[in-house]
Amino acid sequence: MRAILFSSQSYDRDSFSSAPLPAGLALQFQPARLNLDTVALAERHEVVCAFINDDLSAPVLERLAEGGTRLIALRSAGYNHVDLPAAKRLGLSIVRVPAYSPHAVAEHAVALIMALNRCLHRACNRTRDGNFSLNGLTGFDLVGKTVGVIGTGQIGATFARIMAGFGCQLLAYDPFPNPRVEALGARYVSLEDLLAHAQIVSLHCPLNEQSRHLINARSLETMQRGAMLINTGRGGLVETPALIEALKSGHLGYLGLDVYEEEAQLFFEDRSNLPLQDDVLARLLTFPNVVVTAHQAFLTREALAAIATTTLDNIAAWAAGAPQNLVDS
Ligand code: NAI
Repeated sequence: MRAILFSSQSYDRDSFSSAPLPAGLALQFQPARLNLDTVALAERHEVVCAFINDDLSAPVLERLAEGGTRLIALRSAGYNHVDLPAAKRLGLSIVRVPAYSPHAVAEHAVALIMALNRCLHRACNRTRDGNFSLNGLTGFDLVGKTVGVIGTGQIGATFARIMAGFGCQLLAYDPFPNPRVEALGARYVSLEDLLAHAQIVSLHCPLNEQSRHLINARSLETMQRGAMLINTGRGGLVETPALIEALKSGHLGYLGLDVYEEEAQLFFEDRSNLPLQDDVLARLLTFPNVVVTAHQAFLTREALAAIATTTLDNIAAWAAGAPQNLVDS
């Protein structure tokens, strides 16, 4: 059986090569992103292994099915990029890695908070430039601050636990309250109340029709002046142009993004020699109180090892006729 891993980077090659390979499975590492231009590379591969910015829209799925693909093994937890009705119609099975390391993502969200609060990105640049002035680098103590957690599943709950450790007050919003988070002293409130009272808001819910642009011009206005927004969920949770206005007016005090609505064309590639064509991202990157990372929250050794092991297990289980971690389509 042949599997092709689209969007695979050197760290994927390392983690998959270190994991136990199911008997009879041959892996082909393909750096290209899956889309209509590259889908031909998947011909005669029963298994296509895709990541978050691969195109799994109906036209691509149709070409995959025509070429003999029967299983899409996602190397991600999120599956908002898959046209599930099309997959069902074409008889394609979709499996995913439901949890690889909630710690990796939660800890990255905390890293963004700390970098923004203590101006680490600016301080590093200054000291490298021989500028040892502290003016403009004043942060705030986290203890006692109110942190709003939107989505309290595996990652949100892990994040909440870390923030409780800093001595923060926790507000949470999730249609399904998590007793682990309540046990930390978090109060479940409406989205409106959370946005109105939190000094730090962190997004940990999936992207779907209900959550798309959960943070928009209107909801940003209801946040506290000077609040911090952290998004390690999915870019589409936030209406990005609205962030620029909120930052320009000073209403939004800090912004940490690991995900961006239009990231598919940009992230995971070295584009440092090219002019940045995305004017919204370019403007965001000019603000001193903004830190953007390129969807790296998952990128820890532990998470990569877990992604590789679970993905290979998923493929073996499907081949044995007992699929696991299926995404309902
Ligand atoms: P999970 O399924 O354990 O938890 C998601 C939680 O969000 C659930 O409790 C659910 O009830 C809640 N939820 C659903 N819709 C909501 C809404 N409209 N408002 C508020 N809460 C809502 O998922 P997990 O593992 O915690 O992951 C969360 C998200 O993090 C993923 O869907 C994915 O988009 C993102 N992620 C980002 C990564 C990165 O590298 N930046 C890596 C892995 C996941």
